[in-house]
Amino acid sequence: MTPGPAHGGLWVVVPAAGRGTRFGGERPKQYCEVAGRTVIAHTLDRLLSHPSVAGAMVVLAADDAYWRDSALVDLEKPVLTCTGGAERADSVLAGVDALPDAVRADAFVLVHDAARPNLAHADLDRLLDLGRADPVGAILAAPVRDTLKRAGDDGGIDRTEPRERLWRAFTPQLFRRMQLARALRAAADAGVAITDEAMAMERQGLRPLLVEGREDNFKITTPADLARFEYESTRR
Ligand code: CTP
Ligand code: MG
Repeated sequence: MTPGPAHGGLWVVVPAAGRGTRFGGERPKQYCEVAGRTVIAHTLDRLLSHPSVAGAMVVLAADDAYWRDSALVDLEKPVLTCTGGAERADSVLAGVDALPDAVRADAFVLVHDAARPNLAHADLDRLLDLGRADPVGAILAAPVRDTLKRAGDDGGIDRTEPRERLWRAFTPQLFRRMQLARALRAAADAGVAITDEAMAMERQGLRPLLVEGREDNFKITTPADLARFEYESTRR
């Protein structure tokens, strides 16, 4: 489907250009099948079935061999693809740059990991409500619940770190198109490794809002996470 002027609504950039080194195996984790569909198909379905989402820009590895065959959702919303880069931040920037012109510079855009298939619409609702009312934008996140240990070189515990006010950053993350692109480019130019979009914004002196989200919006990093998603899928 070709995006026209009607597609200037809320777009989501979906980085899917990773190799899944920690997951292992031949097939990148976003292309593993759960309940008859690939992980990325589940992710896109959750995003595109939300009434506020107008379209998705999926960022693929240059040598991607699986996207074409991954059974995709047909929701009559545009799903475009572009080519990513070496790091996640490079892929996200490529995706933001490749968005249709109809997505204005000051329009909010979402960024959501392809490997995070269990997003609840209620979480996305809250992120959009609170994030669009914030001057900078917002991210879904959850407070750290475990006790945190600082390890020494020998694997012994040096000390316990306070966990007060520490959060785990999730996606989706919601920022304005131009501000996000500028922040990601600035980090890349400075050679700073950026692990999420908020971090790029923080480097610009901006303070994105934390929106508490569900713990089950986990990212598939290891095979155990995939097993968890398989379990979650049987419960829906
Ligand atoms: N990603 C990307 N481009 C990269 C690296 C990662 O688009 N150069 C995407 C992944 O495909 C994934 C998301 O960013 O959907 C989150 O990254 P991560 O969980 O780290 O996935 P991988 O990088 O594939 O895994 P690993 O770090 O274990 O290699
Ligand atoms: Mg990675």
